Amino acid sequence: MSNKMWGGRFSERPDAIMEEINVSIDVDRHLYAQDIAASKAHAAMLAAQGIIAAKDAKNIAKGLDTILSEIVAGSFDFKRALEDIHMNVESRLSELIGPAAGRLHTARSRNDQVATDFRLFVRDTIDGIDAALAGYQHALAERALQHADTVMPGFTHLQTAQPVTFGHHLMAYVEMAARDRGRFRDARKRLNESPLGAAALAGTSFPIDRDATAKALGFERPMANSLDAVSDRDFVLETLAAASIAAVHLSRFAEEIVLWTSPLVGMVRLSDKFTTGSSIMPQKRNPDAAELARAKTGRVIGALTGLLIVMKGLPLAYQKDMQEDKQGAMEAFAALSLAIRAMSGMVSDLVPDEARMKAAAGEGYATATDLADWLVRELKMPFRDAHHVTGRIVAAASTQNLPLHELPLAEMQAIEPRITQQALSVLSVESSVKSRVSYGGTAPKNVRAQAKAWLKRLEKE
Ligand code: ARG
Repeated sequence: MSNKMWGGRFSERPDAIMEEINVSIDVDRHLYAQDIAASKAHAAMLAAQGIIAAKDAKNIAKGLDTILSEIVAGSFDFKRALEDIHMNVESRLSELIGPAAGRLHTARSRNDQVATDFRLFVRDTIDGIDAALAGYQHALAERALQHADTVMPGFTHLQTAQPVTFGHHLMAYVEMAARDRGRFRDARKRLNESPLGAAALAGTSFPIDRDATAKALGFERPMANSLDAVSDRDFVLETLAAASIAAVHLSRFAEEIVLWTSPLVGMVRLSDKFTTGSSIMPQKRNPDAAELARAKTGRVIGALTGLLIVMKGLPLAYQKDMQEDKQGAMEAFAALSLAIRAMSGMVSDLVPDEARMKAAAGEGYATATDLADWLVRELKMPFRDAHHVTGRIVAAASTQNLPLHELPLAEMQAIEPRITQQALSVLSVESSVKSRVSYGGTAPKNVRAQAKAWLKRLEKE
């Protein structure tokens, strides 16, 4: 028997291989809630416009509710022969309510249907990711407040640069997550238009009300061009691009956690809850969650590049290639939200080794800039000269293997006679971070204010 949904002109069944390459139910079954919501909105509109009878619309809505509860309960029988979620739902609807089910597809095509479903799905996904990112920011800001005074080395080129505070470092990721959330919000704004009613590609001759279905589904307005409505997936691409950037941010932090927890560095200890052991080496504490959060980036960026490549050569309007838009994107969004949750978990209960951090912050002449700044401030030296003088003092300390503050004052004065005892007071890591009071700087009081402001803002959301 040929296909009941589209087989009128066919006399043979599809080959098993045809079915295998064509089927998408394993992926698009995840769109069931959106598919049913969109069908209900469509049926209600058809009745309101007098296109189908009110009684049929009522039965359709009732049948769709039954299907929803069957799917949620796990009793729905998804059939591969029915290709996708749209035909599975419609076929079950006709079992439940009879021929009226066949009226649901009036003035609609699977092309506008799938575009609508997936927009709704991506919109829900964005909302979920936004909430997860807010939780991540909250975890970071709480720890930052707790560690506003905890001094650690700041690096450039992975060489000790200047002391910073652990709280300041954590707050950097709060800011990144804020921009990530902004990018998702922007994508959400642009995607929030309804393709429903574009039908196959050209619109329809029925007197439909696209404003009504758009409104019922929480869209801002109907999409203005029916060809565009069914043939673009830029909303997925844009969301994947935002997801890729967010994943890269998480990955950089994950990389730092891997580095910090290495016994070679030893600045941070993860809780047992977020550490795994080795089956052969009994001493091991592996930061697997951080490593996997770092690795999930591959999936997310892979989905973005994969879909860009699927889309790049497609003429208008719908092409079946576009069925490949879902799997990678869904996996990517799931990977990202898991990575966000794993990072939040690690942040919440990691323990910094404050003594080790402080010692490391003082190594490598990290306060040399503070001495140069002192020369500028107290002796009115041009910064370039102060830099040179300090460089010579560092060299003298370095040949004797001494930290700056242990180099005898007389030896500093041999290089710059006007240096006084007072200069030594700026060389401690604490006074260094305390002095960085410029807006956005690492001073503990800045960090405390920033962390508090963020916590307040997040709690109000
Ligand atoms: N399963 C399809 C997809 O995800 C639905 C649209 C099918 N449309 C069509 N004309 N075959 O893209």
